[in-house]
Amino acid sequence: MSMIVRRLSRAATAGLVAAAALTAAAHSAEAADTLGSAAAGQGRYFGTAVAASHLGESDYAATLDREFSSVTPENEMKWDATEPSRGSFTFTSADRIVDHAQSQGMDVRGHTLVWHSQLPSWVSPLGAQDLRTAMNAHINGLMGHYKGEIHSWDVVNEAFQDGGSGARRSSPFQDKLGDGFIEEAFRTARAADPAAKLCYNDYNTDGVNAKSNAVYDMVKDFKSRGVPIDCVGFQSHFNSNSPVPSDYRHNLQRFADLGVDVQITELDIEGSGSAQAADYTKVVEACLSVSRCTGMTVWGVTDKYSWRSGGTPLLFDGDYNEKPAYGAVLSALGGSGGPGDPGDPGDPGDGASCTATYTRTADWSSGYNGQVTITAGAEPISSWTATVTLPAQQSVSSLWNGTPTWSGNVMTVRPSWNGTLAAGASTSFGFTAAKNGSDAAPTVGTCTAS
Ligand code: XIL
Repeated sequence: MSMIVRRLSRAATAGLVAAAALTAAAHSAEAADTLGSAAAGQGRYFGTAVAASHLGESDYAATLDREFSSVTPENEMKWDATEPSRGSFTFTSADRIVDHAQSQGMDVRGHTLVWHSQLPSWVSPLGAQDLRTAMNAHINGLMGHYKGEIHSWDVVNEAFQDGGSGARRSSPFQDKLGDGFIEEAFRTARAADPAAKLCYNDYNTDGVNAKSNAVYDMVKDFKSRGVPIDCVGFQSHFNSNSPVPSDYRHNLQRFADLGVDVQITELDIEGSGSAQAADYTKVVEACLSVSRCTGMTVWGVTDKYSWRSGGTPLLFDGDYNEKPAYGAVLSALGGSGGPGDPGDPGDPGDGASCTATYTRTADWSSGYNGQVTITAGAEPISSWTATVTLPAQQSVSSLWNGTPTWSGNVMTVRPSWNGTLAAGASTSFGFTAAKNGSDAAPTVGTCTAS
């Protein structure tokens, strides 16, 4: 009963939603100076994963609202979150995200209906018939609640194994219902919300390999038999072990040629600086060169809340500063107002920023050489200032590639010849210190740039 009430009240807000979407579109026509508006200029959405628990953080919400035109609940629509015990649905957290998105005129991607992970414990012990009933009831319950409000649903997630076999992954669904569970889930989903695009979503399928070949064969089979499928999601979680494949574009295109849309659904690329920016450029360019690639979603707003935060894989750092990767994505999307543009609304102050990191490059009993690397943020800089605090006993005998001024044991270093840096580019200064009995490392303070 309460579900039905909620459904009616959700439908009643649809008029408001349409009005908000129009406002967003009008804004994007003025200046493509954010990810969402630049992507809209290319006929695409640019989305992010969102966690309901962070919506109350003002910088998080401001960055989300300014930059993105689509959201994917990061965990809130998963089976464990929505149907923790059989037949009793809880939508509180997912509703918070959907309501927030709608108030900003953003699209919502639904993630995910049938997946082996984040399943509540009551699902796995069910026998085959019961599991089939439960799977269909789960799809109907979730899609019914959000009927007409979800742009695309990840109906089945990660059903294929990694490695060279191209086999299905073992899961309660696969093991008890066999290959046919995927088809059944898609048929149930189509009936539950005919307006939603129905997607198969997976990882390590971004290039041509045994796993993506197996997904390709399934989609081809579905299309030939009229099983309802509208799109394939490519998660695109990249790092040095799993880099952006050189045949990424080709792989997206071959799926599109089967008659489905393709979407980049969970993009993150571990790394930093210009190398990370270049990888992001490759991904955006690949999507833009495939006409059926309808949009991209990064898997989080800020590095600090990423599921792989140690790899700093996103477009905004922990302080919501734009990283070089942000500027790269914005310009690949054809946006203006990115690096170097004083009108860029995402910039704190005039947008110039830098980071400073310290390493000891040589060491001997009475002294050491230290090096401080200065890296420009998302915009070019013409000067920088870094502070280095030395342990009280230590003294600096020489310094190169920088100009120091002293206050006690704090040295403030400015450029000598090396103040001008392109976005994401680095320079360094070095110094020789006498230990005078202390082997402790100096500490490097905040870098400032202009
Ligand atoms: C991740 C979330 O980001 C984490 O917060 C959670 O702890 C585990 O799941 N593939 C998917 C996503 O389809 O749902 C996963 O999200 C990341 C990998």
